[in-house]
Amino acid sequence: MTTRRVFSGIQPSGDIHIGNYMGALRNWVAMQDEYATVYCVVDLHALTLPQDPAELARARVRTAKILLAAGIDPGRSLVYYQSQVPQHAELSWIMGTFASMGQLGRMTQYKEKEDKGGQNLGLFSYPVLMAADILIHRVHAVPVGNDQTQHLEFTRDLVDRFNSRYGNFFPVPEQITPPVGARVMSLKDPTSKMSKSDPDPSSRIIVTDDTDTIVTKVRRAVTDSGKLVAYDVERKPGISNLLDILSAFTGRSVHELAEEYRSAGYGRFKQTVAEAVISGLSPVRRAYLDLDDHDVERIMSEGAEAARTRAEETMAGVRSLIGLSQDN
Ligand code: TYM
Repeated sequence: MTTRRVFSGIQPSGDIHIGNYMGALRNWVAMQDEYATVYCVVDLHALTLPQDPAELARARVRTAKILLAAGIDPGRSLVYYQSQVPQHAELSWIMGTFASMGQLGRMTQYKEKEDKGGQNLGLFSYPVLMAADILIHRVHAVPVGNDQTQHLEFTRDLVDRFNSRYGNFFPVPEQITPPVGARVMSLKDPTSKMSKSDPDPSSRIIVTDDTDTIVTKVRRAVTDSGKLVAYDVERKPGISNLLDILSAFTGRSVHELAEEYRSAGYGRFKQTVAEAVISGLSPVRRAYLDLDDHDVERIMSEGAEAARTRAEETMAGVRSLIGLSQDN
């Protein structure tokens, strides 16, 4: 049996938070045992919003360091920066010719960013580049949080169109989301998701936050009226989000936890949440502080070299199918 292949990506815009960690990264690490895994810091995607060049360069290394510190092992996974493998952009162009403008315009993430004043072609065609990321490695599965569902559906639509015209070349990629932590909400507004681009830094816990910062952020997290700890996303979104976070960090079910902390009071409950987050993140933080930027850059460029070879195999296949073969 051939090993199933997995790809996923993360944007180097801002700092990696516990939503990224629980929705994606932690799963990426676990999947290394079973799958052939490819993980990418998608720096071309980050350009869809204005970036300061020096800060983008720093954010890219920080993101790579978090991946390695969280347990992505370059001995078992291919890990690299998207812009160092130009085949992503080449395949994106080709897949774009299969994309429907109407469907792209209906993407929730596009509409949200467009509403915030971000209008550019890159933002519009963002899902096409994302599809190309996945397809260039012809993977079977993509571990992501549930905010990426629409993009994954879009990718499968492109695959169907390509495969029905040229034969079954690309596998149809399946989305993998974790049972808990697939959508971590903002600590300040538990009806919207925790996000790197939220202007309020206290809305999210960064994977490298120190103990005091985590305690303060959890203590100041918005809770709900009443005194009882209960899981009720409609009426108690703040407490339910904290229960989800506690569940993701302890491996215990939200219902069991809600039962145990029902009458503990919000103060003690929040203390427990903060402690669980601190102990869950501390190995990652320690590993992060130990990593040297130069070593990280070396690992990333070795990863890119190997990824270029693989990506080129896919591109050779694609070019030959569509009539643009380069070996004639
Ligand atoms: P990005 O960088 O926004 O997020 C990286 C991963 O974190 C997940 N995530 C969350 N999970 C749970 N709760 C949250 N609040 C939360 N916020 C983010 C995301 O679902 C994602 O898995 N478009 C992608 C990057 C990308 C990609 C790809 C992913 C580009 N090409 C190909 C998969 C395959 C993005 O913006 O992720």
